[in-house]
Amino acid sequence: MEKQFQFENFAKLESDERKKMIPAKMILDKLNIKPNDRILDFGAGIGYFSIPALEYLGKDGKLIALDISSNMLDELKSRLDNNIDTIDFIVSDGSKIEIDDNKIDKIFIAFVYHEIDNRTALINEFMKVLNSDGEVFLLDWHLVESPFGPPLDHRIDKNIVIQEFTNLGFELVNSELINDFQYFLKFKIK
Ligand SMILES: C[S@@+](CC[C@H](N)C(=O)[O-])C[C@H]1O[C@@H](n2cnc3c(N)ncnc32)[C@H](O)[C@@H]1O
Repeated sequence: MEKQFQFENFAKLESDERKKMIPAKMILDKLNIKPNDRILDFGAGIGYFSIPALEYLGKDGKLIALDISSNMLDELKSRLDNNIDTIDFIVSDGSKIEIDDNKIDKIFIAFVYHEIDNRTALINEFMKVLNSDGEVFLLDWHLVESPFGPPLDHRIDKNIVIQEFTNLGFELVNSELINDFQYFLKFKIK
């Protein structure tokens, strides 16, 4: 809870600085989203990535926006047209993800992993909901001082993240530095 990004600060998630530093579509293009994909945006916040991701999906695709904060998801909903049915919402802390097993093609988790208390439980849940070709795309903050972002002692070195996923049945496919402060990792099931 203490590490959790607070709803009151949601405007930071769509600030002009952020749009410049990490354009949503520049990241989403790396996901190779197919029109029929079922994507879980874990810790979706107000939908900085979820909303543009909908443009990649066809009528049979689905994006599930999950967040621990119903306030965040309400903000996200307020940014959508009422008639969009390619998006569903789940309020959860990730200890149990209420999605049938093997149903998800891609999990996207951006700037959330360092806020999670029980990361082992979360990775195990990811393993359950993903299908056998499933992929995880994880963005987070480097363990270096930066003029913005979470405190240094909340951040997780990317090698630790890689170790945690590979210990629990995933394989690293790609590791990139998005900029001086943020990394991008792609995993698939071994
Ligand atoms: C820094 S924000 C990032 C939001 C979004 N991914 C983005 O990049 O714009 C972190 C989000 O993770 C959510 N969060 C934190 N802990 C969580 C948990 N255990 N389960 C689900 N969501 C969580 C917060 O409520 C917040 O919306």
